Amino acid sequence: MASLKIKNICCIGAGYVGGPTMAVFAQHCPNVKVTVADINESRIKLWNDSDTSNLPIYEPGLDKLISNCRNKNLFFTNNIQESIANADMIFLSVNTPTKSKGVGAGKASDLRWVEASARQVAKFAQGHTIVIEKSTLPVRTAKTIQRILTNSQEINLKKPKKSFSVLSNPEFLSEGTAIKDLQEPDRVLIGGEDQIAINSLVDLYTNWVPCEKIICTNLWSSELSKLTANAFLAQRISSINAISALCEATEADITQVSKAIGLDKRIGNEFLSPGPGFGGSCFQKDILNLVYLCEYYNLDEVARYWEEVININNWQKDRIAKLIVNSLFDTVSGKKLAILGFSFKANTNDTRNSASIDICRDLLEEGAILSIYDPKVDIHQIKKDLEIKSETKDMGNCLFANSIESATQDAHAVIILTEWKQFKDIAWEETIKKMKKPAWIFDTRSLIDVKKAKGVGFDIWQVGNQTKNN
Ligand code: NAD
Ligand code: UGA
Repeated sequence: MASLKIKNICCIGAGYVGGPTMAVFAQHCPNVKVTVADINESRIKLWNDSDTSNLPIYEPGLDKLISNCRNKNLFFTNNIQESIANADMIFLSVNTPTKSKGVGAGKASDLRWVEASARQVAKFAQGHTIVIEKSTLPVRTAKTIQRILTNSQEINLKKPKKSFSVLSNPEFLSEGTAIKDLQEPDRVLIGGEDQIAINSLVDLYTNWVPCEKIICTNLWSSELSKLTANAFLAQRISSINAISALCEATEADITQVSKAIGLDKRIGNEFLSPGPGFGGSCFQKDILNLVYLCEYYNLDEVARYWEEVININNWQKDRIAKLIVNSLFDTVSGKKLAILGFSFKANTNDTRNSASIDICRDLLEEGAILSIYDPKVDIHQIKKDLEIKSETKDMGNCLFANSIESATQDAHAVIILTEWKQFKDIAWEETIKKMKKPAWIFDTRSLIDVKKAKGVGFDIWQVGNQTKNN
């Protein structure tokens, strides 16, 4: 099958997707030079830090991969012009958050970074270049990118004409398991019309992905499949969280219900863990994007259907904050509460849209003093997320704890918000001794052994489980 021999790849955007994805490409395509380019200077500096514990993102296995490939066939740079000019294939892996202003604000994707990077490609590319949408984008964005690439070039009759093929190749990795997901993907999806460009990308992937896992579709199906996959995954979480509330009311146990329904092959057993509400940079924005598209195409009922997934998610966070206050004699004012976990899930330092942010804000609003511990999230990120302005270490009613022990010292309650492994088996007997009584545990991740913690005297609320207290 006809294809182009790709020697130079450039990825625009050195974020949670660009960095790990290109590291895996570099590992499996040793004869290809892979350059990850970003406008953010401090981010690139960290990607190039000789101490890999300083990489800008935390992902299990990423540090080893970077040590093996960096400065051999994997490079991180701010020199966008040169990286584009040298590339035969360019991945656009820039951020696509929800628009905050203007038409579609609060729902539509903000495509300014995609447009800016497409304009950079149009300006600096040379000869024929395959341009690949790696970012998650609204359906039919490939057409916009193609127009920018062909129409925004300066007219210069002395220079050889440039040409572009646009493909869609959405990324399905999950944070915390990104490297494993990239090494052994369930599928690789490629959407496009230019068969030679498609074959060229397939050739790269077949270095490590079995052919039968690579599926090719038209551009629009590929773009829409990515939004749909995230919408279905988020819908499962809202479904199980909705049922968790019913379990608490009826003495059913959500872990038993999850197991019972998950054994049905048609349902499957993954993504059935109840929690404080899904977070992360993508589920909410991608569903909002889907809702916006449905409204644009006058499919109001479909829009309302998907919007409900977000409504339930917000309701779950809200009800948890409220029940914490109710349980603590209807006031948390001046009470120290230990917050365990600030990232949106375990094994990542990413806090974007973390349920912890909303729940902490609600508790701070009620006058609580929070002592926050997360194994990977740093103080600056927590301050930014909770909009704490002070320049010093002082965070007002928020304390930054560097261990479970210091977070829980003198606290009225322990609130587990992220399912980090080290929160599963806390030494409850030691912990309760240093806490105010009655001492509470609010386990929003259904993580702990309730019997054990109850046995040493804790009052407990566990999501989806009617934990009766005396
Ligand atoms: P991110 O914010 O971590 O990284 C994006 C990077 O792009 C930033 O470092 C930014 O500085 C850079 N950038 C923006 N405009 C640029 C430009 N014009 N030139 C050079 N660099 C530029 O975002 P992310 O989490 O990596 O997500 C990127 C895309 O991938 C999004 O569309 C997202 O929806 C999608 N996605 C994310 C995940 C995930 O787990 N985070 C998974 C699948 C898909
Ligand atoms: C998600 C998808 O799983 C990826 O396939 C997709 O590529 C990615 O979004 C994206 O497009 O950004 P991610 O957000 O990194 O990945 O992590 P998930 O494991 O999906 O978790 C999302 C949120 O749902 C987390 O807050 C997690 O704690 C929560 N969750 C997940 C539950 O509450 N219960 C579950 O059973 C699973």
